Amino acid sequence: MKSALEPEKFGGNPVEVVSGQNALREVFACADKLSCHRLLIVCGENVSQLPQVCALAETAPDGYKVEVFAQVEPDPSDHTVVAGGQQARSFRADLIVAIGGGSSIDAGKAIAAEAAAEGWIFSQDRTDQPTNVPDAVLPIIAVPTTAGTGSEVTPFSVITFTEMERKLALNHKALYPKFALLDPTLLTTVPAPAQAAAGMDALTHAVESYLSRKATDRSQQRALQAIELLAQHFRTAYEDPEDLKAQAGMQRAAMVAGLAFSVSRLGIVHAMALPLSALFGVPHGIANAILLPYGVEFNRPAATGLLANIAQAMGVCKDSDTAQAASERAVAAIRQLAKDVGAPQQMREVGVEEAAIERMAQDAIESAHISRNPRSVNIDDIISLYREAY
Ligand SMILES: [Fe+2]
Repeated sequence: MKSALEPEKFGGNPVEVVSGQNALREVFACADKLSCHRLLIVCGENVSQLPQVCALAETAPDGYKVEVFAQVEPDPSDHTVVAGGQQARSFRADLIVAIGGGSSIDAGKAIAAEAAAEGWIFSQDRTDQPTNVPDAVLPIIAVPTTAGTGSEVTPFSVITFTEMERKLALNHKALYPKFALLDPTLLTTVPAPAQAAAGMDALTHAVESYLSRKATDRSQQRALQAIELLAQHFRTAYEDPEDLKAQAGMQRAAMVAGLAFSVSRLGIVHAMALPLSALFGVPHGIANAILLPYGVEFNRPAATGLLANIAQAMGVCKDSDTAQAASERAVAAIRQLAKDVGAPQQMREVGVEEAAIERMAQDAIESAHISRNPRSVNIDDIISLYREAY
């Protein structure tokens, strides 16, 4: 099969990216390149009903078999991974096609491992050994239906381990998808609040990646490109979901931010956001949206020049601005963007209990993201930031 759209490769990242309208239709051409013919689609219930997704099973060319595993829930659990792995083995799938938001793509990655090594996921339920992924997993094609996590180009998968009541991030090069298909038409039916949450997650990836102590020239270039695209397209995509140019811009931003943070990792905002989700079920993007302005303001003394560059990328600088003034504009512009896409501003609005702040700070300070933050952080800093954001 010939593909109509040319895949792109990005230096330092193994994923081949195919983007454009109807990129999803390239799935069989990609499968052909991988010599795979039995496709298990991994998705949630809603995505399984999308006409573009139904069409895949109905119009599979001769020689291809397609089955759908539509049981992925938000924050997918180890049990879902086991069920998906079982279906993959009984169907004799040779390719996992994960379609959806971050949850479905992350579940698809873990299912690709579970399909190849039955019972593997239950060998992961120890906090000291969370990334023992088998070297050979089924190949994965990732098809994002939100512009957010960037999971389509990262080796990470976040799974909820039921017994431990913890979310753990798997991280292994085997979990990189072979192809990412970026089809903007898949974003047009995403409800506005989900679009906003996903976009704020992408913005947080881009900003934290740009400011990270582990950033490289290339990761910073990509992070800044993502920020520029988000400043350009986020409001339009939110207000007019049918605007395919804006949706394609958002999709590219989320993907490029994924390329950046898979190298640089993240910072204080992600460290502080995780307990909000773990303890109070706040969606990841919403937790980031609330905390990002506070985290960036906290980092400003240690990252004034970098924030001035972010202000430039967001188009909010004046020629007369000092670095100091520009960095203030960056924080204000981030805060304004979050407001414009209807994101909540305070933790109290999303059901977080004030009494939990110390416990959350304890969890946040233990996060690996903290060591990449540009400004040194202690637990009292985190407690005051949570209080401010409350
Ligand atoms: Fe994130």
